[in-house]
Amino acid sequence: MTDNNIEGVRVLTDMFGLTGRVAVVTGASSGLGLGFARTLAAAGATVYAAGRRLDRLIALSGEVPGIVPVRCDVTDDGDRKALVDRAISDTGRLDVLINNAGRPGPPNAEDETLEGFHSILDLNLAAGFHLATYAVAKIPAENHASIINISSVVGLVSTAPIGGASYAASKAGTLGLTRELAGQWGRRGVRVNSIVPGWFDTEMTDGLFSNDKSAGWVRRNTMLGRGGVEGEIDGAVLFLASDASSYMTGQTLVVDGGWTAR
Ligand SMILES: NC(=O)c1ccc[n+]([C@@H]2O[C@H](COP(=O)([O-])OP(=O)(O)OC[C@H]3O[C@@H](n4cnc5c(N)ncnc54)[C@H](OP(=O)(O)O)[C@@H]3O)[C@@H](O)[C@H]2O)c1
Repeated sequence: MTDNNIEGVRVLTDMFGLTGRVAVVTGASSGLGLGFARTLAAAGATVYAAGRRLDRLIALSGEVPGIVPVRCDVTDDGDRKALVDRAISDTGRLDVLINNAGRPGPPNAEDETLEGFHSILDLNLAAGFHLATYAVAKIPAENHASIINISSVVGLVSTAPIGGASYAASKAGTLGLTRELAGQWGRRGVRVNSIVPGWFDTEMTDGLFSNDKSAGWVRRNTMLGRGGVEGEIDGAVLFLASDASSYMTGQTLVVDGGWTAR
């Protein structure tokens, strides 16, 4: 390798590397969260990968060095605290928290009960709020932690014609919460940002991509003419998790193939 190449690798490792850092990723048993956990581990982090399907997390930890599987229902207060406590008691630090676990509610507002509405907000919004506040109280000051909240394009624009009142409310709320926590915690060096994914083919969107009509609708309305594929959002997560984004907080990073720029 030439001196220039060695210097280039050093610059990239310094900016994007996560060696020695500790991350918690919720919803890491499938879809986007699984990719986030793999990416952070590949960059050198120890990743506490959380979800309810422990078998999947154990399988992931068998494939990828640096992954620690943790069974956690993020709607359960005790599980949330145990997840953060485990990461900090094992390692003495917590550098990255990715609030990714989530699911949609029913499409039509009139079919959504108040109880159901609350349950989507509990999972998609309140769980991340509590994980973040609980973690920040315990994160050592020198960690300069990065919190990343996974929102959605429907936090920015309407879900029409799909529908989803509680889901849209939770994802728009995530963006407001991100700005607010960023403002409250900036001076202690904790950064808080959101990622807005467009349409990616995961378990959650299975019905969308397996149906020709709705898959065509995604293609027609996305500037790049297709849905996102595995790995295409991981660079955004690595950027926000690492020192490459050290002067960025309170922001929304949109990874949607141009969906919201129409
Ligand atoms: N795919 C897209 O097009 C898209 C677009 C915009 C935003 N998003 C957002 O991206 C995030 C990930 O979704 P995905 O597309 O990757 O869907 P997914 O494959 O269905 O993943 C959802 C994850 O959330 C976890 N989860 C659900 N309820 C949980 C609970 N109570 N406690 C702990 N974990 C729970 C699931 O794990 P367990 O079942 O094992 O608990 C699973 O790992 C969600 O917040 C979603 O709203 C996705």
